[in-house]
Amino acid sequence: MTNNVLVLPGDGIGPEIVTEAVKVLGTLNLDIEIDSALVGGSAVDATGNPLPEETLNKARSADAILLGAVGGPKWDGNPMESRPEKGLLGLRSELELFANFRPAILYPQLAEASTLKPEVVSGLDILIVRELTGGIYFGQPRGIRTLENGEREGYNTYVYNESEIRRIGRQAFEAAQKRGKRLCSVDKSNVLEVTVLWKEVMEELAKEYPDVELSHMLVDNAAMQLVRAPKQFDVVVTGNMFGDILSDAAAMLTGSIGMLPSASLDKDGKGMYEPCHGSAPDIAGQGKANPLATILSVAMMLRYSLDESAAADRIEAAVQKVLDQGLRTGDIMSEGCTLVSTEEMGDAVVAAL
Ligand code: IPM
Ligand code: MG
Repeated sequence: MTNNVLVLPGDGIGPEIVTEAVKVLGTLNLDIEIDSALVGGSAVDATGNPLPEETLNKARSADAILLGAVGGPKWDGNPMESRPEKGLLGLRSELELFANFRPAILYPQLAEASTLKPEVVSGLDILIVRELTGGIYFGQPRGIRTLENGEREGYNTYVYNESEIRRIGRQAFEAAQKRGKRLCSVDKSNVLEVTVLWKEVMEELAKEYPDVELSHMLVDNAAMQLVRAPKQFDVVVTGNMFGDILSDAAAMLTGSIGMLPSASLDKDGKGMYEPCHGSAPDIAGQGKANPLATILSVAMMLRYSLDESAAADRIEAAVQKVLDQGLRTGDIMSEGCTLVSTEEMGDAVVAAL
């Protein structure tokens, strides 16, 4: 059966890294048909809409989606509705991609690239499971209003219902079962009622997963523990905004956010795959971007949505091989290694395959 993959290059470095990832995908000789569409700032420029109807329709009918990155200074002044980020958030919510998996793995070859001491990060292998379609990102009411005294007030709503918490909780417990069987749920239950409920629901769920050890941590402490002793974590589950913040911190433990893929899945395992990093407008179009996070996102796509785990293993092994060869883009460069361009890195992965 032919699988349909929709490619959404997006903005900034998005097109260059996606080109390399598609090249790698093409080398595998799988029965995959690739289509592409506009999203983010490039879609705003072409159609006025960060998520055009045509893109959304293609995304709905695809078996999996590969996204580069969205955003850039060009659109920063746009009203909320026509900001590139709205395209990404719209895809997540329209397709109900509620479960976001963000692994943070330290490749032994890159231990030097981390800003933390090698003994603190060596062997690091964390999985952050972030709720992606609820919480304060989507809660209503939201806006900026003018009070009677003429002063403006901005407001958002942090809300989760039980079923939203339960479905992300299940994903996290199941992921923990397949790994180290330890799950840490991160909340702010000393202040926010919504996360008191979050914690309660996680406790209820824990009864169904007796083989997983559940713990709880307040988000401020979790941020501190991530940089103090990150290896204490196996799987972390948290809400949308805390997950956004903690996953950037976790990514940086590994030396470069340029290495980390992510998967965003719906209840049936259909997913959108994207690098954890952003559109890096400052280096866009210069061949400096690291395509490995996007290439590794293709591996996640093959494993989670397309049932091609052998091909996924091959990509991950090829990435290991190019790192062993000492090839590095600027973000992971260290002494004695060879600096390569985005395209050269993609070619090296293809050669290693
Ligand atoms: C991410 C990004 C997005 C988010 C932005 C681009 C809207 O930071 O995927 O982590 O906040 O979720
Ligand atoms: Mg983020």
